[in-house]
Amino acid sequence: METSGRKIFIGGNWKSNGDRKFVKDHSSYLKSLNFDSSKCDVVVCPTFIHLESALNELNGSNILVSAQNVSMNDNGAFTGEISAKQLKDFNIHWTLIGHSERRQFFGDNEDVIGKKIKIALLNGLNIIACIGEKLEERNEGKTLEVCVNQMKTIVDSVGSNWDKVVIAYEPVWAIGTGKTATPEMAQEVHQQLRNWVKENVNEEVASKIRIIYGGSVTEGNCNTLIKEKDIDGFLVGGASLKSDFAKIIASYEQKL
Ligand code: PGA
Repeated sequence: METSGRKIFIGGNWKSNGDRKFVKDHSSYLKSLNFDSSKCDVVVCPTFIHLESALNELNGSNILVSAQNVSMNDNGAFTGEISAKQLKDFNIHWTLIGHSERRQFFGDNEDVIGKKIKIALLNGLNIIACIGEKLEERNEGKTLEVCVNQMKTIVDSVGSNWDKVVIAYEPVWAIGTGKTATPEMAQEVHQQLRNWVKENVNEEVASKIRIIYGGSVTEGNCNTLIKEKDIDGFLVGGASLKSDFAKIIASYEQKL
């Protein structure tokens, strides 16, 4: 298989799940897994309240810890928000931005997402920027149009910090539904996105940027999805809370 030179990226988005016991037990399970961290980044995203304990539990492992969200503002009078500066202060170096649940339930529109990307990068965070179409948009043939529109926000906000960005393509209809895009469907969008980046940013960024797939990834489908040329890893929700995540991490070996 032709290798892309891009390091595989496997993210586990715990969403609003877990308690202290889960964080302790699951982290110690994850810590026991063997993977080659020079070939694969593994990043878990606990809730804000569990970030510090996950960091402590995973200390000494190669697993990185990410926030699920970040404030669009700096420190200040923004009740309930967590700033990029505060994440850095806790030694958190990653955050998700623009997850579809944030877009759907918490008003994260393109303007908000752009601001979050800018402030996260300004503070030196790495970002997993999420995009993806809804079912009706796919059915109307608007998948690329929707994703490109979301990509424009990312391009306008990233500046020259592309080495700090991972794109997660997550079709909304596949998230938490058990309906996964087929490898062909996912590859088609990933390839179109990479081509779009080539034309609208440059060839170097297009060849280096990691585009990961998310939406009902399981231990059953990860090995076929990962074989697609433009799929550089996964963002995993439900299955990242279970021991299945070990098999999903191990899928990077299919790409070696
Ligand atoms: P899922 O979630 O794997 O449970 O579909 C993916 C995500 O929301 O990132």
